[in-house]
Amino acid sequence: MANKKIVILISGRGSNFVAIAQAAQRENWAQEGIEIACVVSNRPEAAGLERARELGYETAVVDHKAYPDRVAFEKALIEVIDRYDPAVVVLAGFMRILTDCFVNHYDGRILNIHPALLPLFKGLDTHQRAIDAGVRIHGCTVHFVSAELDGGAIIGQAAVPVVPGDDADTLAHRALKLEHVLYPRAVKAVAAGEVVLKDNRVEMPAHVVQQLALFSNEI
Ligand code: GRF
Repeated sequence: MANKKIVILISGRGSNFVAIAQAAQRENWAQEGIEIACVVSNRPEAAGLERARELGYETAVVDHKAYPDRVAFEKALIEVIDRYDPAVVVLAGFMRILTDCFVNHYDGRILNIHPALLPLFKGLDTHQRAIDAGVRIHGCTVHFVSAELDGGAIIGQAAVPVVPGDDADTLAHRALKLEHVLYPRAVKAVAAGEVVLKDNRVEMPAHVVQQLALFSNEI
């Protein structure tokens, strides 16, 4: 019986969800009692939902447009998520800003992946902003979600070079490949209890730190 359940929230194509699902299969997370219990989307038309159904996962939709305000939407979302009593809630391309109330409810067990090396380039259009800023190294960050947008404690990061001729798409593509390696590792480590949030700091053993500091030439 799985006792460490993961609920994944998506809004779009869901490639990070698929990467996590594939790692879970390949590495037999079930043996450690870790399983993806449900994939939830705020958009009924999210392509990732279809993928989740094809792969045999439970899915749910909580359409934000059906609620009068953010609080009502989040209340409904919490109700769906808490049916699974998840050890980890994973934001994977979930495009809604979440209130303190929601975030605090899942304190220490809600993760996000941001497509930049935080604390640089919080918010949107990160790849274009990285190119415009002329940085030579870009990447992605997995972090605990806090009330501050893209401001929670950092769990792991992956770095890619910015090369001549890059545009936002080529850079996004290069970074996404590493997202698909980093995020499953981070989710597994949090679900397994190897990574914990204590007093707003992330604690983990040295070997996990190594696994969660990735460079593009390693994959
Ligand atoms: C990724 O680039 C991730 O960093 C950001 O949203 C995108 C989601 O992509 N948070 P996908 O839906 O997982 O393919």
